[in-house]
Amino acid sequence: MRRRVARVCRALGRHANLRGLCRAGYRRHSTRRLVLGIETSCDDTCAAVVSSEGEVLSDARSSQDSLRRKYGGVVPNLAQIVHRTAINGVVERAMADARVEPEDLAAVAVTVGPGLAPCLFVGIRHARRISAQWGLPCIPVHHMEGHALATQLRSPGTPALHELSFPFLVLLVSGGHSLLLHAHGVGDYTELGSSLDVSMGVSFDKVARQLGLKGGGPELEAVAARGNPKAHPLSIPMRGQKHHCDFSFSGLTTQTLQAIEMAQKPHEIDSYFEDMGALPSATQADIAAAFQSAAVKHVVDRTEIALNWALEDAPDTKTLVVSGGVASNKTVRGGLERIARSYRIGTVFPPASLCTDNAAMIAWAGIAHMDGKHVDLEPPTLAEAVLRGDEEEFVQAYPRWPLGVRHPNAKKLDLERFGEHTVAKSRITRRNHRRSLTEETRERQASGCIN
Ligand code: KG4
Ligand code: ZN
Repeated sequence: MRRRVARVCRALGRHANLRGLCRAGYRRHSTRRLVLGIETSCDDTCAAVVSSEGEVLSDARSSQDSLRRKYGGVVPNLAQIVHRTAINGVVERAMADARVEPEDLAAVAVTVGPGLAPCLFVGIRHARRISAQWGLPCIPVHHMEGHALATQLRSPGTPALHELSFPFLVLLVSGGHSLLLHAHGVGDYTELGSSLDVSMGVSFDKVARQLGLKGGGPELEAVAARGNPKAHPLSIPMRGQKHHCDFSFSGLTTQTLQAIEMAQKPHEIDSYFEDMGALPSATQADIAAAFQSAAVKHVVDRTEIALNWALEDAPDTKTLVVSGGVASNKTVRGGLERIARSYRIGTVFPPASLCTDNAAMIAWAGIAHMDGKHVDLEPPTLAEAVLRGDEEEFVQAYPRWPLGVRHPNAKKLDLERFGEHTVAKSRITRRNHRRSLTEETRERQASGCIN
């Protein structure tokens, strides 16, 4: 049965792009449907209204940037408090900006994972509450799937930026993720590579901070533009490892922090009474450029291996979608465009507003699942995408939740790296995720809460 479902998904993916799928759903329901999306997986409180044609009617956000800067990162419990105070206003703003009333909506979609558990719960509870109040289905969405499908969104009245057909490759590089996915269809993904330690965005942020740059990755990029990457050569992570496409940024980060320390030493005495250890701006720029160059080469190397795997599995893969905050870096873009072109693969970089965490992508992923409702996808690919419930009903959060299965090549390597015990344990965790979702669905079906 599962194989048949997978075949149906692939067939759908191959022959219909997302818009096609939505149009099919559209016809079935005969009217344009609107979905309210809610996203609180990290420290941005977001709500948006999106139509089944991919139009973003509103996109309300409340950011915790100042807190993040103050504490040098996200403090989950603090972020939860801020989400709680912001969520009502953000949802109201999304509804008002879109000029819609609850009765105009077809569903509420909400991120249920992965992310920070205390933060996820705020969004989930709110979504559950209003969906019960407004008598709407509540669709649980995987945050990464939101990122993967976001390219089809557009402003009202404008055409879609890209017509995207499955299968395609996705690279997510942000503060929260470094991930390579092969997308075969809605709810059908293979994980080709992920970060073994810190994400690319966190690595940029740490180096920027040590260089005395308060603006994180974007400021590092600006400073690197006037530097010489060859002045402080740094080694590129995992250069010789061509048998997998996982990332590792922690070694490069440490190496760069050491280079900064070394460069600071001679200046400590001179500048003791002013700004101890501050670097001359030329050195700062050179180190920033060297770090950026090594990080980009690493991400390009891993993407090239992923391209090989993807093309071997599905030669009709035509596009590489690059999303996440780091995707706005011009050197990153240039490197990825070059490598993709050499494989005759097109690249798609969604606009910055869709690259970063947002609720429009969550609403859109919800719509895609709602339209694919006739396809009995299994959790955790969000099989029972459309849930209906009352206020007492509880949607579980999935703070650690893989999207799709690891590629067989990567699985083999996981066994070598972590041993049978750890891999088996992670398999059980995945199975448990699946089981708990399935059980939940059954319970709801029994109580007549699901269509
Ligand atoms: O997707 P995003 O906005 O949110 C989170 O995942 O939290 O990504 C933010 C990350 C930060 O680490 C930021 O420093 C990095 O993306 N970033 C950049 C650039 N713009 C944002 N890194 C390098 N170059 C950039 N231009
Ligand atoms: Zn994200």
